[in-house]
Amino acid sequence: MTFVDRVINPRATPAWGALQTLSTSVAQQSIHDLGRVDRDFLRLESAGWHLDASRQRVTHEVFDHLLALADQTGVLAHRDAMRAGAHINTTEDRAALHMALRAEPSPDWYDGTMKISDLVQTELHRMSVIGERIRDGRWVGATGKRISHVINIGIGGSDLGPAMVYQALTAFRDPGITCVFVSNVDPVDIHDALRTCDPATTLIIVSSKTFTTRESIGNAHVARDWLTRALGADAVRTHFLAVSTNIAAAEAFGIPRESVVGFWEWVGGRYSVDSAIGLSLMIALGTENFRSFLRGFRDMDEHFLSAPAARNLPITMALCGIWNRDFLNIETVAVLPYSQRLARFPAYLQQLTMESNGKSVRRDGSPVDYPTSPIYWGEPGTNGQHSFYQLLHQGSSTVACDIIVVAEAETSEPQMQSILVANALAQASVLSMGRSRDDIHDGPPDLVPHRVIAGNTPVTMLMTRALTPHSLGALISLYEHMVFVQGAVWGINSFDQWGVEYGKVVAQGIESDIDARIWDDSELDEPTRQSLRLYLELRRKD
Ligand code: F6P
Repeated sequence: MTFVDRVINPRATPAWGALQTLSTSVAQQSIHDLGRVDRDFLRLESAGWHLDASRQRVTHEVFDHLLALADQTGVLAHRDAMRAGAHINTTEDRAALHMALRAEPSPDWYDGTMKISDLVQTELHRMSVIGERIRDGRWVGATGKRISHVINIGIGGSDLGPAMVYQALTAFRDPGITCVFVSNVDPVDIHDALRTCDPATTLIIVSSKTFTTRESIGNAHVARDWLTRALGADAVRTHFLAVSTNIAAAEAFGIPRESVVGFWEWVGGRYSVDSAIGLSLMIALGTENFRSFLRGFRDMDEHFLSAPAARNLPITMALCGIWNRDFLNIETVAVLPYSQRLARFPAYLQQLTMESNGKSVRRDGSPVDYPTSPIYWGEPGTNGQHSFYQLLHQGSSTVACDIIVVAEAETSEPQMQSILVANALAQASVLSMGRSRDDIHDGPPDLVPHRVIAGNTPVTMLMTRALTPHSLGALISLYEHMVFVQGAVWGINSFDQWGVEYGKVVAQGIESDIDARIWDDSELDEPTRQSLRLYLELRRKD
């Protein structure tokens, strides 16, 4: 049995038992009280990010046992197995080598059958050449006009990363290129996108790892019809690119092999923004910015691979998360970027965290008897403050919060940036420290219970100087590795998504029933049959 096959039940480790005992005593202590003692062991810095986990309900003793838990569940050995290209994605028999996408080329990046650095560099170079030719106008469309619009058609990992980064790095974009991201199979998505574009100046990138995803292929067909109606069938050659691991399927769709930029099975969809899936970003940001984005990832990767566990940002964040989820029973995490540019970051993280660690069996198929991934959600501050923060402050459930702060203003309104950051610091303080009766000196006494805030909400604060390609790459890498460490402790496979796959199969069956206008397919469960019947009835009345 290899290391990868050997799964340790974290509950059976001595550290788990010790943490369980500690959780009862820590439950009596407030973050306010914890704050009186040295908390520097929870403040770390790497790759331009300052992690402050001192507002977590984690004592020195708890942290030591969390580190022991990581040790006893073999986290570092699992990390090294990932780095070495072992097939840690056991159910799909694949390596998870996203770190090779941004690493310095080296012969020791190996996927189990071959060295992969040269492949990575070749595709990166192709992306760079495509980007340069589009930006400098050498790439022209069927009518000889230069490209001004790029439509990325993709979903999940083939959309969320590029769309999030495109918005986050607005300040670094070439003003001559506008990217539009289409993901939903709801036809309004592609129609709205096409309405803003001129076929003669538009490049369409079909981004799909498998090139079988219903949504993306459906949208690609609509886009191809739109293009060929305006410019003729030959225009597909200069107006379409594909990004995929499935070159044959892209060719069958009509995109020639030389227009397919590739990546590999060992890049999971949700870990692919730094692969060719980022082609729209390479075009919009340029080679230098894209390379700086990769360097940000790499700096955090190197920290993850080399820093001692107790000073390792991803490991510390992961262990605080495990403490919250498994021992303090906190079910959700709110991601609160105090940066409008990071508005799509919570959605991006939802896939990264929940598609990776939303699992109920360990790698050997045995059921877990402890909670795995919390639910991730969120919105940028300060908007969220005027919406759901009331529940964070005074609701009946505790929600762990990740507050992300960017120090420098991107625009020339430093005063407004100060307001923004003051709010981030204020919220972190109130969420964690609360407001006691003793802090309320005015107003009618009967309002006092309404104004008290319990506090004790665990807050992780991440702060960086500026939102740049480098800092964004490092931030994504930080969360990727946090997810990895949590999956390793829980003994689950963070790289498959069988639940999602089954949903696709069922949808395809129902789609056939709709096409055939079947009213009561006996294979469907009764509520679904009734819903299908209602849908067909309502549609008929159109
Ligand atoms: O939603 C499931 C999923 O397989 C994701 O993991 C993936 O990112 C997405 O679909 C898109 O897949 P593809 O890139 O193959 O179209």
